[in-house]
Amino acid sequence: MCGIIARISKDLSPIKTLKGLKFLEYRGYDSYGVLLHKLGSDEVVSKNISELSEFELDRLSKFESNVEIGHTRWATHGGVTKENAHPHWSCDKKFYVVMNGIIENYLDIKSDLKNCGVEFNSETDTEVLPHLFSKYFKDTGNVENDLLLTSKRVFEDLKGEFSFVVKYENCILAYKNINPIAIGVCDDELFLCSDSGLVQNNSDKFYVLNDGEVLVSSISENNISSHFYCDFKEFSPEFKESVKSECDDENSFPTYMEKEIYDQKNLRSIITSENLSSIKYLKNALRNGRKLVLTAAGTSYHAAYVMHYELLKHGIMSSIILASELQNYTKVISDSIIVVLSQSGETADLIYPLRELRDSNEIFTITNTANSTLARFANRIILLNCGREVSVASTKAFSAQVFVSHLLNYELCGKEINDDLTFYENEFDRFIGNCLNILDDVCEKFYSAPDCFFIGRNEFHPFALEGSLKLKEVSYIHAEGFAGGELKHGTLALITDGVPVVVLGNCDEIVSNAIEIKTRGGVLIGVSSVENEVYDYFVKVPEVFEDIFGTIVLQLLALKMAERLGLNPDKPRNLAKSVTVK
Ligand code: G6P
Repeated sequence: MCGIIARISKDLSPIKTLKGLKFLEYRGYDSYGVLLHKLGSDEVVSKNISELSEFELDRLSKFESNVEIGHTRWATHGGVTKENAHPHWSCDKKFYVVMNGIIENYLDIKSDLKNCGVEFNSETDTEVLPHLFSKYFKDTGNVENDLLLTSKRVFEDLKGEFSFVVKYENCILAYKNINPIAIGVCDDELFLCSDSGLVQNNSDKFYVLNDGEVLVSSISENNISSHFYCDFKEFSPEFKESVKSECDDENSFPTYMEKEIYDQKNLRSIITSENLSSIKYLKNALRNGRKLVLTAAGTSYHAAYVMHYELLKHGIMSSIILASELQNYTKVISDSIIVVLSQSGETADLIYPLRELRDSNEIFTITNTANSTLARFANRIILLNCGREVSVASTKAFSAQVFVSHLLNYELCGKEINDDLTFYENEFDRFIGNCLNILDDVCEKFYSAPDCFFIGRNEFHPFALEGSLKLKEVSYIHAEGFAGGELKHGTLALITDGVPVVVLGNCDEIVSNAIEIKTRGGVLIGVSSVENEVYDYFVKVPEVFEDIFGTIVLQLLALKMAERLGLNPDKPRNLAKSVTVK
């Protein structure tokens, strides 16, 4: 994970970098670090555990600076300490580095460097980089070229996948390998970071680096110069016009999770002519018997499962594979359509195997992030268009992904979706109001419960998985979701007096499972379009879009439980929104 950012500018205010760093916290918020450097002055470095506070942001924004690098960390190598926060620097404090990724052979390099007398300040893999740059740097007076030649020598020593920015005097070098780096330019400024949307909001034109490419940029009194290299040969990148996204940082709700649950009223923005044409294309391919593989991680995996069940109704079989297991299948998947679902478009578990798979398969990416790595891998794309999702626990992206499955389903049935969508929109606010009353009671009763279970059958099975994931992510209550039929094969042993179980759907078999639970003392929370007297608590959901309405209940349950427990649902411990490590 981790986010990296850098700016070179004649404008002396570092505010863009500092605000950008706050924005990047979705990529990790264990610690932050930033370096500010005004030409002719000493560097100012601020780093600490936790996120960048408003107080520190305000303090730092008063400094003047022409060159900045920054980092927000999700700890992998080395605990959450100030020493392990980036940037890391060489012993002579001339080379400063921020990195996103992993250097696999860092222990060997570290031991060699230590034998040469280098002293390390941290436990990180990143820290070998500034020391290696310092070791190989030959000063010939041409700082850009010297840095480029040094990087060539440094790369020869490294194994792993990582993107980084190194700063030396008035110059930065950025290298991209797997983890994204986008570069934006406007008058007298170069701005780069891990998030292409943020880059576009801060530039006139942008370019997304490809694996192996290097940017070297420097600033002098009169000029900013930038050069791009691939295999150490200079090239001219094709910059695109930046597309500004609406600034959705405004939030009148107490948390982003709550805001994003309410944002789900708008599913209509997915219905664009490009998306509809992609859905038609997918329908025709499936009708023509193309093999289909669905793959995703976390919440997106549950959305993939929803699509799997939707397609089963049409007699279409798909293989569904967890992103983190996909690498086992790279030799056996070919001539298939691989539907990849990913809110961020940057999940490393998907990127690695898909680099191989995309040669012999067609990639169909469903993502919320245009220009992300997985969007750029795709032969066809569906953009979720649900606006930036800030809360780590995914909500609106999930509903949008489920809605894509509905669009495909309606297309396969030859049905119009518009009336059902209008009903959903009209019902949305009233529905939330009604279910909040019931959920308040449920939270009050169960906020100290050690466990909670979620069951659903058939098409409701993935929603049971998603409901349990949401609850554990934000409330830290142990939760498990599973297919109702599996209860008797083990989990029933855990049902004792007072254990809460959320039951989704209303088929006869799930009601039987609910009765089995009740018989053993479990307390039932039913979420369905059909009431049944077996339930102790019941949230009635409309039949139209029952699954999306049901999802909202599960999300609200998790949110309210977190609030009841005094937890911040937006930033759960140990989790990050964009998971760029395997
Ligand atoms: C992380 C996030 C989850 C998300 C998963 C997959 O674990 O915390 O909310 O569902 O990654 O992310 P993606 O961006 O690929 O949908």
